[in-house]
Amino acid sequence: MSSSGEAELLHTFKGVPFTSRSSPELLKSLDTFDAREDDVLLVSYPKSGTHWLAGVIAKLYNTQVTITSPIEFGDISQLEELNKLSSKRIIPTHLDYNMLPPSFKKKKCKMIYISRNPKDTAVSMFHYYRDNPNLPTVDTWTAFIDLFLKGNVVCGSWFDHFLSWEEHEDENHILFLFYEDMKKDLPKVVKEITLFLSLNVSDNDIQDICRKSSFSEMKNDAKKENNDPSHTVCALTSNRKLIFRKGAVGDWKNYFTPKQNIRFQEIFNEKMKLSKMADSFIYEC
Ligand code: A3P
Repeated sequence: MSSSGEAELLHTFKGVPFTSRSSPELLKSLDTFDAREDDVLLVSYPKSGTHWLAGVIAKLYNTQVTITSPIEFGDISQLEELNKLSSKRIIPTHLDYNMLPPSFKKKKCKMIYISRNPKDTAVSMFHYYRDNPNLPTVDTWTAFIDLFLKGNVVCGSWFDHFLSWEEHEDENHILFLFYEDMKKDLPKVVKEITLFLSLNVSDNDIQDICRKSSFSEMKNDAKKENNDPSHTVCALTSNRKLIFRKGAVGDWKNYFTPKQNIRFQEIFNEKMKLSKMADSFIYEC
């Protein structure tokens, strides 16, 4: 990562790197946020399919809902803006569990955690770093994978993020989803989401929503909607073209050398040794 002139793009809060789009004042004040019982949190480590899931969820409601910008993005006014919203709030976040405003936990708000195999997540994030001027420059994949494995990337360690949430897997107000399951059988996952959110959506409507949420449809929509900031969940860009890149399972194979793969696997095995879900990740389609 080049350091000259870019140091100000990231800062660290409680040991986790955040971009300058998340002001330290906002991060400090998150603990004071007052959740509403009907808030729904959409939680992910970056590049796990957040926009895909947000796109699906937005289509499931027939009442007015607002998908807000992530709670940790913006300046101190962000929480005030969220407070002013009169409609039901779907709030995205990349926060790890320990940083989540306590009132979401106390009120047992519904939370959907989407994860994706970390090798594809790393590749997706590599491209995002390369294409997004709001993130530091990375010169090579080799340099990036090293940063990723050390957790020296925006939102910190993938492993720490996943494990902090997995610890709460048995709480019934948290639903865990996998990107690869959505690729394999989207209607099945969407049905699961409707049951979790207690939404009454017919099978026909689910099929229709899935058709409109395919990678190609969403990418096409992105071309039309581009440059409207309200159309990205990720406040690091208003350019939706940066979000819809390839949308595939197994792209990691085009990037990892055998040596990098062994190193990744060793670190994965060590970090995830107590994880009950470590075997759930799918690496190829
Ligand atoms: P790739 O970079 O591998 O293509 P996020 O929304 O969390 O930033 O995640 C972005 C990733 O999700 C990108 O991965 C993007 O292409 C993929 N994605 C977005 N919409 C998708 C869809 N409808 N189907 C499959 N993948 C999708």
